[in-house]
Amino acid sequence: MSKKNRGEWGSRVGFIMAAIGSAVGLGNIWRFPYTAASNGGGAFLIPYMVALLTAGIPILILEFGLGHKIRSSAPGVFRSLNKKWQAFGWWQTAISFAITVYYMVVIAWAMSYLKFAFTTGWGEDTKGFLFGTYLNLSDSPLHLGGLNLKVVIPLLIIWGINFIVLRMGIKGGIEKASKIFMPLLVLSLIAITVRGVTLPGAAKGLEYFFKPDFSRLADPKVWVAAYGQIFYSLSIAFGIMLAYSSYLPKDSDIVNNAFITGLGNCSFSILSGIGVFSILGYMAHTQGVEVSEVASAGVGLAFIVFPKAISALPGMNSLFGVTFFLSLLFAGISSSISLVETVLSAIIDNFGMERRKALNIVVLVGLCTSLIFATGAGLYILDIVDHYINNYGVAVAGLIEIILLSWFFNLESIREYVNPLSDFKIGKWWNFCLKFLTPAILGVMTVKNIIGDIS
Ligand code: PHE
Ligand code: NA
Repeated sequence: MSKKNRGEWGSRVGFIMAAIGSAVGLGNIWRFPYTAASNGGGAFLIPYMVALLTAGIPILILEFGLGHKIRSSAPGVFRSLNKKWQAFGWWQTAISFAITVYYMVVIAWAMSYLKFAFTTGWGEDTKGFLFGTYLNLSDSPLHLGGLNLKVVIPLLIIWGINFIVLRMGIKGGIEKASKIFMPLLVLSLIAITVRGVTLPGAAKGLEYFFKPDFSRLADPKVWVAAYGQIFYSLSIAFGIMLAYSSYLPKDSDIVNNAFITGLGNCSFSILSGIGVFSILGYMAHTQGVEVSEVASAGVGLAFIVFPKAISALPGMNSLFGVTFFLSLLFAGISSSISLVETVLSAIIDNFGMERRKALNIVVLVGLCTSLIFATGAGLYILDIVDHYINNYGVAVAGLIEIILLSWFFNLESIREYVNPLSDFKIGKWWNFCLKFLTPAILGVMTVKNIIGDIS
């Protein structure tokens, strides 16, 4: 297919909104606050900022530069650097596909909970409601049970929204959708945060989130968690940012775009952390317990702890609940669009297939695959897939990418490519971060995860 027909972003703001839209997702709203709190609270922000500046933004510059230069998705980018590396690009695409199929399901849950929020329909026992009434959870991961229509219907809607947006292309679809979703997300997060900090007990929650425990800085695990969070949150190493930057117009400021995306995503994380922990503080306050007792990880925070907190609010709680689940929905959908686009663009670029035809195939196969998560065993399978992707997929893909590009490729040529395009010039520190610093830390991270999983 001719490169001219690939599509292009209509404006710089449009690209940035789409890139931040991909970055800001479910990971900012429930993953970041919990990760920070369990890794030294306020002291976590130090390794987090270090990871952002030494790995996150440098890799964003790298991926934006490569996508812009080669104007192709992951398999094409890696093939053009070295024929043998094409497989790695496909591997990144495959990870994106694997994330897509379960990410859609979590968004579908958020959509159902948006509906429940109008009447706080989850009742008193929010855990029993999630596992029993809503998910129809079976007794083992091997026991699929039938399809659960309560999940299948929102799942069809979410895939449908992705389908419609992606069908309209880069500028008319993704860019337009991002320009609608992102401002709405900012407004809803601000509303949540304002409501949150004005609740009794909020200070207790914020203290838990922000109070630095400097002794934790000596713990390598905290650093490891910070790098992991940055990778996941910035959507790097899965070919996503490569695909998005391949649609940049010729004269685009790469370095500035990377800084805005990286810092913008980080602001969203901190804002939602303030909101989430204020609410948890309020809940701990009303129950007379410690904040650590109400804060729990992962899916549970958004679908068990939060509904409970929402029901306990002093007034207008359905309005608050609706706002919260809407923000999960906006954040989730803009990320899912980028995941599907990554797979889609790989197929278009490599098989010369027409966009709409490729989209039909990706959506059909993706939708059918994600139905497995809409069975009685869905939550179990989702937990397992998510664990392996987060613990190995993220680190290993990131590690291989920077090792290939900085040790087996002329990294300097990329620096020389992006600098003339950018107002702010990157120095040799960039090469140092990618060649030595980040591989060292990521290497430790992977080894630790493997050891931790075995023992
Ligand atoms: N970055 C998004 C988040 O924080 C999700 C995401 C993860 C998107 C991995 C693509 C790849 O939720
Ligand atoms: Na998003």
